[in-house]
Amino acid sequence: DESAPTVFGMPLKYVSLVTLAVQNAALSIVMHYSRVSTPPSLSYSPASAVLLNEIMKGSISFMIALWRISNSESRRPLTGSIFTPLNQLLREIFSHDCWKLSIPAILYVVQNSLQFVAVSNLPVATFQVTYQMKILTTAAFSVALLRRRLSSTKWTSLFFLAIGVAIVQIQTSTSNDPPVSKANMPVGSAHESAPRYLHIMSPLKGFGAVTAACFTSGLAGVYFEMVLKNSKADLWVRNVQLSLFSLIPALLPVLYVPVPSNSGGFFQDFFKNFGGWAWATVSIQVFGGLITAIVIKYSDNILKGFATSLSIILSFLASVILFHFSITPSFVVGSSTVLIATWLYNQPAGQEPTLLVNVVNS
Ligand code: C5P
Repeated sequence: DESAPTVFGMPLKYVSLVTLAVQNAALSIVMHYSRVSTPPSLSYSPASAVLLNEIMKGSISFMIALWRISNSESRRPLTGSIFTPLNQLLREIFSHDCWKLSIPAILYVVQNSLQFVAVSNLPVATFQVTYQMKILTTAAFSVALLRRRLSSTKWTSLFFLAIGVAIVQIQTSTSNDPPVSKANMPVGSAHESAPRYLHIMSPLKGFGAVTAACFTSGLAGVYFEMVLKNSKADLWVRNVQLSLFSLIPALLPVLYVPVPSNSGGFFQDFFKNFGGWAWATVSIQVFGGLITAIVIKYSDNILKGFATSLSIILSFLASVILFHFSITPSFVVGSSTVLIATWLYNQPAGQEPTLLVNVVNS
């Protein structure tokens, strides 16, 4: 039964939501570290990372889709047919409606590139909390494209979400500390002997990138959900189509960046400074993309927002330990508002006021 698959006896729906929360927390920390631990001249190209992400995700999805066709009674070509499973898969990938994936594909490439700008210019926890604005954009696009109706409680919780995000934003932009990351030491190394690289962050640039990424996230997610749920095509075939269309916008910046005079050829330039942290970032992104697709199929974009807001707590705790992130009262107030709003948003219809009264009275 496709509607309620399980993993080790647990519903895939919940396993994928929890996995996504952990993945989100890990991604912001590893990505942030991979960007700020070296000076710009020694850091890898985000354009290479975005392209590698799509190639790896597309290849994995292709393999899963092929495996599924070979093991599916209804889709497997009859024995003796000229259509092998590979032919059958190619026919499904290049179907008449594959163009529909071009829109989310372009949006996701833009979003994945903006994420690098945001994560390089904001502290991890601030990035995570501000990125929750995508619940707002996702709701707006769900109403506009999927014709979903939202109760007044849901709109109220969205309003509080925006307030919470704003509180965190104000404390970061008015902070007296220089916006310099303290994450300049390789983890576990002796601080005295490590070279002291400083990466200057620009919170304004970071917030601009986050805001734009929230719009592409909401639109791309809802658009992918619409394409997926309005047709019978296999999730993994849709993912291959998504990656194929992503290749064009992801290749452009790789091909058109100015090549330095002492260039060592295309592949040397492409993988320049691409070390362990860069590979870790790309691997976590690939994993996240696959989990996101599963979450959108078996839950929806709104529940996805709830799962990722859980990751705020995880990444906040981790960044206190790893990056010496200091807890300020406004950060606590802002983050708490975001979490309460997220919780309120996810209350089943009809139960919200009673629950709220209980909380207020206790
Ligand atoms: O922040 P948000 O949840 O919108 O990010 C979604 C991420 O998942 C993007 O990096 C996007 O490339 C990826 N994705 C994917 N395949 C899908 C849907 C999303 O790789 N089918």
